[in-house]
Amino acid sequence: MPRRKRIAVLISGRGSNLGALLRHDLAGEVVLVGSNRADAGGLALATDAGIATFTLSHRDFATREAFDAALVARLNLAAVDLVVLAGFMRILTPVFTEAFAGRLINIHPSLLPAFPGLDTHARALAEGVKLHGCTVHFVTPELDRGPIIAQAAVQVEDDDTPATLAARVLVQEHQILPWAVRLFCEDRLRIEGLRVRVLPALA
Ligand code: GRF
Repeated sequence: MPRRKRIAVLISGRGSNLGALLRHDLAGEVVLVGSNRADAGGLALATDAGIATFTLSHRDFATREAFDAALVARLNLAAVDLVVLAGFMRILTPVFTEAFAGRLINIHPSLLPAFPGLDTHARALAEGVKLHGCTVHFVTPELDRGPIIAQAAVQVEDDDTPATLAARVLVQEHQILPWAVRLFCEDRLRIEGLRVRVLPALA
């Protein structure tokens, strides 16, 4: 029986994706939750679940690289196997992405490679797409690129606003993020270029 993986989750806000992770059997343990903002609502979710938390403010560092190096050091102290970015609103440098290459996962609220970056729901509406959704992917140095593990789509309705669309996409985020994390913890993901192969479950 392989050792259960130790997972860190990084957040910046309300932490509903963190909540979804905590509600599912991940075949691994969330052992640490970190934020760059002390007022991130999701930190309370972790505390209530008895999980260690930390805040590291990017404002205390002169450069992105210095912040990232401190973040890497904090996560390494906890000996984590996987880092999940769940609404972590920081652009990470190669100092971070290379330290956790192949074991760093992000949830993004669009069907990548469409709509990387911010304001994805408003941009999807402005472009008139009929399908929108969310993506879980391995993080590489390039923003919102990297091998895709899972995606889920929703129909765009005529009367959608960015808020209504975001709410429907969020429901899907809460499904595919725990699923992707579980696949990682079960050692079932193989990265082949930009593609991710999902290996069958062991009987
Ligand atoms: C989610 O929509 C996620 O895709 C995006 O930021 C939002 C975070 O929401 N990156 P929450 O904090 O998990 O509720």
